[in-house]
Amino acid sequence: MLRLLLLSLCLGGVALAQPVPVPEEPSVFPPGDGQEETFYACTACHSTAIIRRSGFTRAQWDGLMDWMVEKQGMNPLEPADRRQIVDYLAQHYGPRTAPSRGRNPFLN
Ligand code: HEC
Repeated sequence: MLRLLLLSLCLGGVALAQPVPVPEEPSVFPPGDGQEETFYACTACHSTAIIRRSGFTRAQWDGLMDWMVEKQGMNPLEPADRRQIVDYLAQHYGPRTAPSRGRNPFLN
């Protein structure tokens, strides 16, 4: 009996310690044409974090759409939506350039 009580206390503690997921909104993405479309097409399976930490060329984002459909089960996007979303992603999440490399911040 005591064991059962301790067990349920532990489980209760674990449940309480779970972080409450903060619902995301389109505004986590930078404003621009395609912001909402990208948000709603891309957050069915994962948060935007995996997108926001990525940096790809337009061709890579385009290829990722195929990968998402073929390997992850995403519903294929309408061509016009796909163009808009890929444009949006490429514009805001392009390959990372190292902005400070080669520039001395003290000389600017
Ligand atoms: C049907 C579910 C689903 C949808 C919808 C979806 N994804 Fe994904 N995505 C996944 C899964 C699952 C993974 C993780 C695959 C793995 O690495 O295990 C993933 C991984 C990713 C990654 C990481 C790729 C890497 O490994 O570098 C990016 C970036 C990404 N998704 C972008 C998007 C974008 C942009 C959209 C909207 C166009 C989107 N996803 C829509 C399922 C989905």
